[in-house]
Amino acid sequence: MRTYLAGLVFLFIIPGSFAQSVKNNTHYSVQKTITCGKGAVVSAHPLASMAGLQILKQGGNAVDAAIATQLALAVVYPAAGNIGGGGFMVAHLSNGQNISIDYREKAPAKASRDMYLDKDGNAQLDLSQYGHLASGVPGTVAGLFASLKYAKLPFVKLIQPAIDLAEHGFPITAGQAASFNSNKKEFLEQNKAAIAFVKAEKWKAGDLLIQTDLANTLKRIRDLGQKGFYEGETARLIVEEMQRGNGIISPDDLKSYEAKERTPLSFDYKGHQVISMPLPSSGGIIIEQMLKMIEPRNIAAMKFQTAGSVQLMTEVERRAYADRAEFLGDADFVNVPVKTLVSREYLEQRMKDYEPGKAGNSKITGAGMIRESEETTHLSVIDAEGNAVAVTTTLNDSYGSHTVVTGAGFILNNEMDDFSVKPGVPNMYGALGNDKNAIAPGKRMLSSMTPTIVLKNNKPCLVVGTPGGTTIPTSVFQTLVNIIEFNMTAIDAVNKPKFHHQWSPDRIDVEKDFPADVIQQLEAMGYTVKPRESIGRTELIQVLGKKIIAVGDKRGDDDARGY
Ligand code: GLY
Repeated sequence: MRTYLAGLVFLFIIPGSFAQSVKNNTHYSVQKTITCGKGAVVSAHPLASMAGLQILKQGGNAVDAAIATQLALAVVYPAAGNIGGGGFMVAHLSNGQNISIDYREKAPAKASRDMYLDKDGNAQLDLSQYGHLASGVPGTVAGLFASLKYAKLPFVKLIQPAIDLAEHGFPITAGQAASFNSNKKEFLEQNKAAIAFVKAEKWKAGDLLIQTDLANTLKRIRDLGQKGFYEGETARLIVEEMQRGNGIISPDDLKSYEAKERTPLSFDYKGHQVISMPLPSSGGIIIEQMLKMIEPRNIAAMKFQTAGSVQLMTEVERRAYADRAEFLGDADFVNVPVKTLVSREYLEQRMKDYEPGKAGNSKITGAGMIRESEETTHLSVIDAEGNAVAVTTTLNDSYGSHTVVTGAGFILNNEMDDFSVKPGVPNMYGALGNDKNAIAPGKRMLSSMTPTIVLKNNKPCLVVGTPGGTTIPTSVFQTLVNIIEFNMTAIDAVNKPKFHHQWSPDRIDVEKDFPADVIQQLEAMGYTVKPRESIGRTELIQVLGKKIIAVGDKRGDDDARGY
């Protein structure tokens, strides 16, 4: 076990006394990896991973733990953990069933295709990215209750750690303090009332964050179920908040919100069954396309992060993202040729102009010929019965719209920016889209979230996902290739430098520790390579025989727990 110490925040939680230790304001440490035999939880925050682990130890299954972890993240990781956003769950149950639950936000009934264009037709991205009008109808709470069907413990037990954390507070990490400080201006701009995330002096590691309004909202959800959010007091507070800032979410939008159970996307890659999220996530389709495009080419022989293997992966990323922009949207609203997009014949055709050693060009290689924040958070869970759960949820950007519902204490998403606001105008991730992903009332905006489970001989061997907007599918893709093709350890697969190409802009983004000699060789092939800040925060569980290895990404406060 390796332990990474987050700023000033040390010491230990005594197992089994989670709620009590939170009440006593016990400090905690960030634990990056654990090897164990029964069950594990990896998430963006130690207190959320601990909440999930406690539920596993109390006899809950992986779905119970995933619900408790999400609720705890809504308190301890307000940048992306949420009840005001949405998400996806992919699960493999010990009875062999694979499921996926879509609780993506939807456009309010009053939304319209050109709602973010000014009178001259110019896109007003400040409106799709900040404030009340940027919010889609939240889906997370409906998703938690839809997941409950597969859980074992009563909901009151699963939500209690989150209530304790909100009510009694917890000491924040150095990373969280820096994040609150750097978002202060946006919080003040978007909120007239006092909010828990802003104080006069600077936040520092170890400061206590108490969220009384959020605790009361969580209690209403505990006592009234889904109606405690979508109807009554919480719904009233959301609608009043909308009225304060020209938002358009109505009581009816909230009352009619439904999580949808969908058939997960599933395909074979060299004897591994990959199970991932279907539309409205683009992630599963993109992963399938990218893996199938590398499958016939011996990438293992090219070796990890050589110019050759990075070039091949870049070129499949280019092609998959061009297809994303052209063809993908909410399949409940538009036709998407999914079968063709993932067929081996089509993908081989897409790779016809791939030339080893020579950079491709996004002006020449567009979408295939078929006629017809980056701030998100992921958690991976496995239990002793062999249930595995991968959940990615989001507010979209860090702290979403930055709008806190007055009196209810939670942040609303800015997910409307994941629609194509105007064809040809990139969203905050630089992603392009067209009519397929245009805004329509009730439609779900295209996502990149890619919660993924890999089975070998029908048993989970990998549970993986990450935040990172459009970089999500490429990070999941690289993690899978690192393990399946390059035989890498779970720790290295998560932590080695990542890169990303998304067709437009035509450029390879690399993390700062990406090897300089490989960058030079890629530039010599004709690629533009640009160093950027870290890519994603991958949470991975690997099962090797009877051994469970859980890894929280080095890039944040991410934390792995198990027993
Ligand atoms: N908001 C990030 C995503 O859903 O892809």
